[in-house]
Amino acid sequence: MPKILVIDDDTSICETLELYLTEEGHEVHTALTGTDGLNKAVEVLPDVVILDIRLPDIDGFTVLEDLKEDGEETRVIMITAHHDMDTTIKAMKEGAFDYIHKPINIDELDIAIQKALESLEMEKKINGLLMEPSRDFKVGDIIGRGKGMREVFKTIGVVSQSRTTVLIQGESGTGKELIAKVIHNNTSSDEPYIAVNCSAIVDTLLESELFGHEKGSFTGAISRKLGKFELARYGTVFLDEISEMSVNLQAKLLRVLQEMEFERVGGKDRVNVNARIIAATNKNLKELVREGKFRDDLYYRLNIVAINIPPLRERREDIPSLVDYLIKKINYDLHKKIAGVSDEMMDIFLKYDWPGNIRELENLLVRAAVVTKGQVLGRGDFPDLLESFVSGEVRDKVPGVVGGGEDEDFEFRTIDEIEERHIRNVIGKTGKNKGEICEILGISRPTLERKLEKYGITFE
Ligand SMILES: Nc1ncnc2c1ncn2[C@@H]1O[C@H](COP(=O)(O)OP(=O)(O)OP(=O)(O)O)[C@@H](O)[C@H]1O
Ligand SMILES: [Mg+2]
Repeated sequence: MPKILVIDDDTSICETLELYLTEEGHEVHTALTGTDGLNKAVEVLPDVVILDIRLPDIDGFTVLEDLKEDGEETRVIMITAHHDMDTTIKAMKEGAFDYIHKPINIDELDIAIQKALESLEMEKKINGLLMEPSRDFKVGDIIGRGKGMREVFKTIGVVSQSRTTVLIQGESGTGKELIAKVIHNNTSSDEPYIAVNCSAIVDTLLESELFGHEKGSFTGAISRKLGKFELARYGTVFLDEISEMSVNLQAKLLRVLQEMEFERVGGKDRVNVNARIIAATNKNLKELVREGKFRDDLYYRLNIVAINIPPLRERREDIPSLVDYLIKKINYDLHKKIAGVSDEMMDIFLKYDWPGNIRELENLLVRAAVVTKGQVLGRGDFPDLLESFVSGEVRDKVPGVVGGGEDEDFEFRTIDEIEERHIRNVIGKTGKNKGEICEILGISRPTLERKLEKYGITFE
């Protein structure tokens, strides 16, 4: 039986909800203060908490924070008397599942509880799938067992039960589009999914692509055309590379998000937007806001729920299962019978930095699968990777490392030995300025620190 905890200082609300929700078949607990609520939460481990923002002792946001710390999966539905967007955004950002207004509309609450319970179910299902060691490959699977990806899965579970705007951020090739599709499939799979790349079309055309136009609204507009927001109906509009949208269109999109309606280009009719909007970017939008290149109010609206996909080099533990998955996919697509990659190659995979992330891994595996003569992909099948792994600079300084056939003084060395030697060389030549060292090596500061520690290099 689902367990629900109501935390509200209004006794009549507690009593009414207890009566109603018990009748609906839930196990209900109530608390009149934040402290009491937190104690009860530890005791009963509720599936759903219905939480008032204004409480006599501690405020609801603090309670929310504590609840999330204790039981990550507890779904919290906030109740508040304020109708302002700021409170909604704050609550959602701090991990609330949903939000309802006072006076409480029981249908609204019912739907929120239902969705919360469904999303819990889904999270359990996703976790179950992740635990299963060898399942058959399915297109659209997202591979990832590490902590970084578990966080992503959890958010997917939560947003799949709602229609909130989602902002997906991640480096190129990390799976932004894949995740957008998964969210769509989990929310409204029988409605259209429409992807628009904001960087691929000129501004004026993008406007009519998104909003549609009326006949004769500009030269070439020979008939009325429906825009993506209309065509998506109750489905999803995926706005890829949102950072590239012009300031003019940013203003129009903001209006769509605020009012959930718009006018076609050259038209007067107001058209409702029912689609869910998912935006993606591989740039740091916050930084663009700071630089004045992206509207802060639009950023604020898009960022209600953010999914930050970690780059592959920060979740190397996922590499073996990704390789496994991608090889199954390649075998299927290309009618191959590749068994896997050699241990030596896997070792290199685990050390390489993957600037192009999963897309780069996938491309390399496809190319290797096409050229290989055997069933196990080995060193010889990845000439490009070895080339880029040992950077151009190393090649210049360490004779005969790559393509060393021509060099007389060719020596066999491990990648680590070369890397260490190269780092030491750079340190020696740069006057020990870490910023400069990172720039020359093309790596981030934390990566440099890790490598220094790994090779036991110290200097100050
Ligand atoms: N976690 C994952 N599990 C399995 N496949 C993945 C995963 N992440 C990405 N992929 C695969 O990697 C490829 C790149 O993913 P996708 O196109 O979604 O990346 P992206 O972030 O949109 O990249 P870009 O910024 O370059 O557009 C796709 O073929 C996708 O299916
Ligand atoms: Mg993409």
